[in-house]
Amino acid sequence: MTETTSIVGYSDGDTDTNDSIQPTLESMAASRYSRRQALFRGAGATTMAFMGTSLLAACGDDDGNSDLGAVTVSAGANAATSAGRVVTLTGSASGTLSDSVAPRWTQTSGTQVELSGTSGTVTFIAPAVAAATDLVFTYTATSAFGETSTATTTVRVSPAVLGFSAVPHSLADVAVVPEGYSVTIMTRLGDPLTATTPAYKNDGSDTDFANRIGDHHDALHFFGLSATGTPDVNSSTRGLMVQNHENITRQYLHVNGPTTTAGARPMAEALKEIECHGVSVVEYVDSGNRKWTYKQDSTFNRRITPNTPMSFHGPAAGSSYLVTAYSNDGKTGRGTINNCANGVTGWNTNLTCEENYAGYFRRDVSDDALRTPRELASLQRNGVTGRSGNNAWSTASTTDDRFTRWNATISSATAPATADFRYEPNQFGWVVEIDPFNPKSTPRKRTALGRFGHEGAFVRIATGQKLGIYMGDDSRGEYLYKFVSTATWAAADANASDRLAMGDKYLDAGILYVAKFNEDGTGTWMPLVYSPTFPTRPASGSGSSAYPAYTFESQADICVNTRFAADALGATPMDRPEWTVGNPVTGEIYLTLTNNSGRTPANTNAANPRAYSDPYTGGSPVNGNPNGHIVRLREDGDTTSATTFKWDIYLFGADAADADPVNVNISGLTAANDFSSPDGAYFSRSTNPAGQINPVMWIETDDGALTDRTNCMLLAAIPGRVGDGGAVTITNTLGAASGTQATRVGAKATAATLRRFLVGPVQCEITGIDMTPDGRTLFVGIQHPGESGPTAAPSSHWPDSQTGTPAASVRPRSALIAITKNDGGIVGL
Ligand code: FEO
Ligand code: CA
Ligand code: CA
Repeated sequence: MTETTSIVGYSDGDTDTNDSIQPTLESMAASRYSRRQALFRGAGATTMAFMGTSLLAACGDDDGNSDLGAVTVSAGANAATSAGRVVTLTGSASGTLSDSVAPRWTQTSGTQVELSGTSGTVTFIAPAVAAATDLVFTYTATSAFGETSTATTTVRVSPAVLGFSAVPHSLADVAVVPEGYSVTIMTRLGDPLTATTPAYKNDGSDTDFANRIGDHHDALHFFGLSATGTPDVNSSTRGLMVQNHENITRQYLHVNGPTTTAGARPMAEALKEIECHGVSVVEYVDSGNRKWTYKQDSTFNRRITPNTPMSFHGPAAGSSYLVTAYSNDGKTGRGTINNCANGVTGWNTNLTCEENYAGYFRRDVSDDALRTPRELASLQRNGVTGRSGNNAWSTASTTDDRFTRWNATISSATAPATADFRYEPNQFGWVVEIDPFNPKSTPRKRTALGRFGHEGAFVRIATGQKLGIYMGDDSRGEYLYKFVSTATWAAADANASDRLAMGDKYLDAGILYVAKFNEDGTGTWMPLVYSPTFPTRPASGSGSSAYPAYTFESQADICVNTRFAADALGATPMDRPEWTVGNPVTGEIYLTLTNNSGRTPANTNAANPRAYSDPYTGGSPVNGNPNGHIVRLREDGDTTSATTFKWDIYLFGADAADADPVNVNISGLTAANDFSSPDGAYFSRSTNPAGQINPVMWIETDDGALTDRTNCMLLAAIPGRVGDGGAVTITNTLGAASGTQATRVGAKATAATLRRFLVGPVQCEITGIDMTPDGRTLFVGIQHPGESGPTAAPSSHWPDSQTGTPAASVRPRSALIAITKNDGGIVGL
């Protein structure tokens, strides 16, 4: 060290993270005045100021003497921080400085960082480290006489920690984020996507949603865009935001809410509701320092709706299961619906997942008698049983097939399948690949990945391995699936110009598996591969839910009737499998299980071990597994194609205030991190310190059990690994019933490993999440604020309520928000 004066000054606002070599902010501030006086010694003077999250200032010259003709420089004292935080180096020089050589900062040792700023003050973001690591910086000034003086300072960087104060429970009509963070409202329901589309009036009179942002913002992904409009996975300042629009809050879409005349929905209303579903592709631009806006007239902007042409690929394409009056060859179709979670491929395409498609279809009573027993069984197993269909769209016309397609009733006993839309339900329930960079491209439905209530499709890509795609089926008692590609990943494919052709390569051929979780913490992937000996799905149920036995006839059959195939192999019924996501460092896969009202002490299993009653203030208790949990698994051999794995339950949701601390609040949650009904799950990108070494995981909730205390939320976590807890036996009590269940649980949560980061506005769910590659902007979806309110008196006024006090009549809008840290640091750290 060459400093001649030891001046200390640093704070990141969190005394927990201060290294022992440094005092806390508080102690430093208490003595600031006297230390400032100490800075003024002889000719050496310096400045001392708070900048960003750190303060570094000291003075000296390189030999400690005030040489005649030399300048005196200061570089600051040793300091401590943790990965992902902004550090400001403040240097100063006094004396007669060179006119031609400006003072400068250089890094002289430690993990290389990027210094930005002017010569005297530079900043950098502390890099990811596995253990405390010293970075050394030198400040050099040159005198008018050519003599250089230097001073150095050392910044000790510790491993990443959650660096914010937990957001408390909130019932307010705002999105609450931690101190030091800001929210920018981005694309909202109805925002125009072309130069000529009028601004959204939000009074129910707006039209043309094929050129506006849809409703119910769900999964999202930021696809980086280069200056020339090509994919750039490293861009943090320009990109295409691809977001799902899962559903609608229809009372706010029409002037007086939805109407029906003589049993028919007005065509304009039905069309508006249809077009509010689907996917949007929108250009986002940072105009500097994370000032995000969307580009209304971008040529990349696109709406994909239930009316957008699609093509089918993989084993079921061209099969009789997909033939309709629109698709006589079973190779084409129209649109996508109830798009919930997503996936991102290694070749810059987006996977959108069709979840609760079944409810949109109408099947009249007359249809039952015209179906074969196999068809009827399939329709029942997949829930295509409604007599009107969501929103009764099929009533809007008797001739326009944009509406009649939602009626899956067979038109007559003698009509061929090309005469009606009896198989239209089979056209949904798929994973759909979209090329966001080509607005003219036709999305492709990838049938090899199976058909069910697809929640998400996390794509794990590892060098030298096949792709592993992990997918939940979100209904009570449904399963976890994995698709393993036939093709081994070739890194050059990441830059392919024909991106959908890469989808053909990796997504059309492979093996679909379903998971079985064993009580001893092991698990098995069972292949859903057709052969004449593939097991028959036995008959089950009784009355209207009775299924006859179902014998498979082809791989196309297995792809269309995936749930039956998984039943036949004895897969483990789960508590509503929602998102899947992989830890980018360990490769472990996390699966959120949101809740299950049907779980009882008699039907638990090791991977779904709780059945209890959660008291609800001002309402009835919520029974079953009302708060949900998160299972994680590690593939044996750490390969995507493994057929066995180890698992445990990472985290259990619970109401910390009223849960049995032993058998329900198993993860030891507190008021600062309790949650219920986990849904969205995400790991920080591995391109920034929050996604490296011990990556930050984000958990979003879609809840109705903890809503007596708080609106839905987003939490940040630093999870451990499979096996970091142990085996336990849970005692379940629900009413008069009781039982025990052995399971495997992870380590308990602590304030250091799980914190609430955001609470959303009234009656929303938090859905969709991604960040810029640099980790300095986090994008989050806020879905259906005020979903239960009446048209004339909305129960939420968000996002208008985020910063103002809107009139009582202002309607809420689903919206995407950008969250940034005010000092420019990595979000969450
Ligand atoms: Fe669309 Fe399962 O949440
Ligand atoms: Ca409760
Ligand atoms: Ca969801």
